[in-house]
Amino acid sequence: MSKPFVYVTRLLPEDQLAKLKETANVEMWEKEEEPCPRKVLLEKAREADGLLTMLSDKIDQELLEQAENLKVIANLAVGYDNIDVKYAASKKITVCNTPDVLTDTTADLAFALLMASARRIAKAADYIKEGKWKGWGPLQMAGMDIHGKTLGIVGMGKIGTAVAKRGTGFDMKILYHNRSRNKAAEEAHGAKHASFDEVLEQSDFVVCLTPLTEETKEMFTYEAFKKMKRKAIFVNASRGAVVKEDDLKRAIEDGLIAGAGLDVFASEPIQPDHPLLGLRQVTALPHIGSSSEETRLKMMELCSRNIAAVLKGKQPETPVT
Ligand code: DGY
Repeated sequence: MSKPFVYVTRLLPEDQLAKLKETANVEMWEKEEEPCPRKVLLEKAREADGLLTMLSDKIDQELLEQAENLKVIANLAVGYDNIDVKYAASKKITVCNTPDVLTDTTADLAFALLMASARRIAKAADYIKEGKWKGWGPLQMAGMDIHGKTLGIVGMGKIGTAVAKRGTGFDMKILYHNRSRNKAAEEAHGAKHASFDEVLEQSDFVVCLTPLTEETKEMFTYEAFKKMKRKAIFVNASRGAVVKEDDLKRAIEDGLIAGAGLDVFASEPIQPDHPLLGLRQVTALPHIGSSSEETRLKMMELCSRNIAAVLKGKQPETPVT
């Protein structure tokens, strides 16, 4: 009997796919940073028993309708808003993601972005490299303190809890808003549950880590930013579409908030002329939340194990429920 066929939508290191290759014939899109074109993805999905996808691949009804052999999709991300999970379930296709292995790495980045935004790290690093440093100045590159401030977390799942833990190391008071109470975070990190408005009004840093859903889409509007402290910083390490980007730009220009640290954007990759990049108060990163070498390799291995398990008729480790 011939082996099942698995298509991987980016070029990944061979080693991370070695186990999967024992179970399946694996083919990969040839580029690491350039997404697999839609036409190719549709073509491959028509034949594939398994797909290893990236968060930039749209796995929608059109694709799933044609993917007659498809049994499993493993998304190289914890978020899976790029996949029509409901429709996949109706076709008995298992969808898997990569939770847990990326929790601390993503929390590290979210906190680093908070710190970089508060202490103007990127700006200060450019300043010295551009030869602008002519001497020490009393208020040169003066940023904002982090320790002792109030950290407001919107989306208190595993990554949110890990960010809260980092905040306690800086003697921060932790507020959070989440659909349901997170008692473990309350007990372990003294986090206090609050309404969305309370988090906006009382926090010095508002960090968004909520998944993108119909409910959270564009939840950060001009009106929301208006409720924040004038000196507050907004950090987004979840999905760009939770923010109305035009509103964020206006909010910064109008001085409603002091700045933003953004790892994610409504449409990625953004171009250098993106309106938010023109603002000196914005620190922007190219969606690298989970991007440490160790973690990305673990995510690839987890995807490979999940696909192999489903193709062997076994339960995958991390199906999306
Ligand atoms: C995820 O896994 O959803 C992250 O956004 C990747 O960095």
